[in-house]
Amino acid sequence: MTTTASLPPGPTLHPIHQGLRFAFRAASFFEECAHRYGDCFTLRLPVGVPVVMFTAPDAVREIFTGDEEDLRAGAANVVLRPLLGPNSLLFLDGARHARERRLMLPPFHGERMLAYGDAMRTITDRAIERWPLGRPLAIQPEMQAITLDVILRTVFGLEGEELGRLRDLLRRWIGLGTNPLWLWPRLQVDLGALSPWGRLLRIRREIDTLLFAAIAQRRAAAAPERADVLSLLVAARDEDGAPMSDEELRDEMMTLLVAGHETTATALAWAFHHVLADPDILAALREELGLVVGAGPLSPTHIGKLTYLDATVKETLRLSPVLSEVGRRLERPMRIGGQELPAGIAVGPCIYLVHRRPDLWPDPERFDPTRFLGTRPSPYEFLPFGGGVRRCIGMAFALYEMKVVLAQVLLRLELRLAPGYRMKLVRRSITLAPSRGMPVIAAPRAA
Ligand code: HEM
Repeated sequence: MTTTASLPPGPTLHPIHQGLRFAFRAASFFEECAHRYGDCFTLRLPVGVPVVMFTAPDAVREIFTGDEEDLRAGAANVVLRPLLGPNSLLFLDGARHARERRLMLPPFHGERMLAYGDAMRTITDRAIERWPLGRPLAIQPEMQAITLDVILRTVFGLEGEELGRLRDLLRRWIGLGTNPLWLWPRLQVDLGALSPWGRLLRIRREIDTLLFAAIAQRRAAAAPERADVLSLLVAARDEDGAPMSDEELRDEMMTLLVAGHETTATALAWAFHHVLADPDILAALREELGLVVGAGPLSPTHIGKLTYLDATVKETLRLSPVLSEVGRRLERPMRIGGQELPAGIAVGPCIYLVHRRPDLWPDPERFDPTRFLGTRPSPYEFLPFGGGVRRCIGMAFALYEMKVVLAQVLLRLELRLAPGYRMKLVRRSITLAPSRGMPVIAAPRAA
């Protein structure tokens, strides 16, 4: 019988020490593990079960194409449950996951994105107008303000005062919720309105009230012309003709918000980091924008023609994946990557390390968008959005939004990295982000 004692070797540090390195020194921690243990190693973190990490494409394929009943992502994600609610797609497995995913996929279909493009560009324009010129500006929070508004408009379908109220509450909730220590269940205790977790819960209740009101409004007045994701989900029916309940809708809206806005904002901050660090890449992007968009304005139909921009976005997600790994919990003993593994542990591709394998990506630390020109990498070698039946449902949305925002900022502004800035990779909640919000200096573009 295989037991957790016979798992592949990994760091021997105390779990709390492993947890701290995972949370605060992720890059060096992963790199040391790959260097010392090779294609697979076991992490023992203070939260959850041991996790066996894999970096070889064959093992990634086995994990992504395995039976959903055996490899459960919902069970592996549970640490986030108190933040999002029990009905979130992220925590469901098996038939319930499949039902909910079928209901949620249509609004995220590639073609629909075109309808959201104008909103994405307008929101970016409004944000740019507020940016100070000539002095350091942390780009990550600015990107997050854009991606939050994009979700509130296109996913929640909110406008005006309603949008403002929910935005204020969500900002407070997100501000409190991004500390990685909240992933530790022992700290999730309500000690009243003045305690941090207690405050988080109370803001969450206020958010719920607003969300339930928005859901009730959509149910009461069906408006077929509305293209926002919430309206589409309220109208969606499963194969038995049943709609989603209010609680399901609330938890899924919070899931889309949490899964969708900080990830995209951080990916955008990484994109600016890489592009501004290399004048040739910046020049190539500007040249393409000049040829395709000309005197403008940028329109959703331009995006499909911007192939170097597309490659830049993908290379950003390769070299700087926002999520360093995904997990699956084993329901039965299995052999993965040549290792016999017991039921009850978790396995996961380490996205960060797969994307840095020199046998897959020559000179892996070099940022080079041309790697993605005219090629389609294997889903087991390039996996910033995870894979298999759990692959990110917002993938097309995120790629599209990144391209619209990057293009619009580059069309309107000259940006450069703030002098003296030395980027360190840090964790914000579960994401990997550039330190200090990635300061840049903006100036208007000469006509
Ligand atoms: C650059 C931005 C993004 C990145 C890097 C990203 C990455 C990921 C990853 C790695 C997963 C886990 C997949 C797995 O377990 O195999 C995931 C799942 C998910 N993402 Fe994203 N995501 C991004 C943007 C978005 C957006 C914009 C949305 C929606 C508006 C979204 C919604 C979701 C949802 C609902 C899931 C759960 C899917 C399931 O369990 O079936 N994500 N994402």
